[in-house]
Order: sequence, then structure tokens, then C-alpha cells
Amino acid sequence: MKKIAPSILSADFSNLKDDILMVENAGADYLHIDVMDGMFVPNITFGPPIIKSIRKVTKMIFDVHLMIEKPERYIDDFIDAGADIITVHYEASSHLNSTIEHIKSKGIKAGVSINPATSVFLLKEIIREVDLVLIMSVNPGFGGQSYIKNTKYKIEDLIKLKNKYNPELLIEIDGGIKSTNIFEISKLGVDIFVAGSEIFKAENPSEKIKELKNIING
Ligand code: DX5
Ligand code: ZN
Repeated sequence: MKKIAPSILSADFSNLKDDILMVENAGADYLHIDVMDGMFVPNITFGPPIIKSIRKVTKMIFDVHLMIEKPERYIDDFIDAGADIITVHYEASSHLNSTIEHIKSKGIKAGVSINPATSVFLLKEIIREVDLVLIMSVNPGFGGQSYIKNTKYKIEDLIKLKNKYNPELLIEIDGGIKSTNIFEISKLGVDIFVAGSEIFKAENPSEKIKELKNIING
């Protein structure tokens, strides 16, 4: 089954608990948590203390997307806070192999993400080691941006690498996902769909989650 991962970046931070319970009750699969440091991306969000707090209100799988420089400095903090999946950026870690090994040694899933201008072929040497590849379909930093159309070709190239080197690999897409484009993207072979503004700015967010799930799982 393909999965929907609502991004709490577009949630109401003054009402985070209710928004999380709403997406959980609507049947969302993962909770996507965007951590930004104001260096790797031009925006700042939150860190381990917030994640630790929301860990108390839900059993959802925490899909933590680290948009931070040198993420290796904080892996243990995010694991202690309750992350189930940690994804780091290829562009942000100069010792990617050891960062990935470190995450996996703690018994959780490890992912690597690439920005729109980064070639998927740069992942060839790491792809056997990771559980997940997160393709950014917008330039990371903000919710509510438009899906970059050429991402299609990157997904197609990643599928080739997956088939050759790691058939178990999960492919996640993040940025500009809407009910109007999710079907087309899903047909390419993506497993997990992050959606922020499409869900939280919808008139009825729970219905939107159900709609997106129906589209991807038919
Ligand atoms: C962007 C974040 C995304 C963001 C997606 O830097 O990584 O997860 O929340 O937001 P939408 O779905 O609004 O493009
Ligand atoms: Zn994200």
C-alpha cells in the first residue's frame, strides 16, 4: 500500500496536538516532520524538544526530514525524541555513509534526500545502504510551493537504480503534491507522498487525506 505522510509544517502550531490527532484519525500513514536550521535552508522550524512533546500524543510513525547542515551532530537527539525514520540530505553530510550506518545501528530506518538540482546518480554508492530515498520536488525551505515538473525524470532514473541495486528501496516525494498531480506521480512508482498545504489548507483536511489515499491506492 502506498502511503500519505502529512507534513506538520503547514499545521497550526498553536494547535499541534489536535492537528496530529486529526491526521491520525483520518488514516494518514506517517507524520512528516520538517526540521530546518536556517543554514541548509532559509527557514527555521523546530528540533528535538517539540518532537519529544508530540511523541506523547500519538503512535504514528515519525518520518523526520532533516534539512540541517551536518546532521550527524544531532542524530542521537532525534532518535531519543522518538523518530522512526530519519532522512538526511545528500548535500548536507560530508560523511553520508557513516551517518546512515549510525542511524541504522539504532534500529530505525534511514533515508537520504536530494534537492531538485542534485542528480540521483550521485546516490549510486549509498543506495544499497538506505531504506528510503526522498526526492525533493520543490526547493526545500517552505510549504506551499509548486511541484517541479522535471522531477518525473528523476523518479524514472531512481527507479532504474532501485531495480538494479536495492529492490526493497522506498521512494518518497516531497513538495507540491496535490490531488491533481498525485495519480500521475504515483504511476511512476513512488511509495510515500508528503503533503503539507494541500491537506492543512483544505476546507476539510480529513476528507483530503482520504481522497489522496484513494487516488494512490485505487
Ligand atoms: C519543504 C518541506 C516539505 C513541505 C511540503 O521544504 O520539506 O515537507 O512541508 O509542503 P507542500 O506539500 O505544501 O509543498
Ligand atoms: Zn519534508
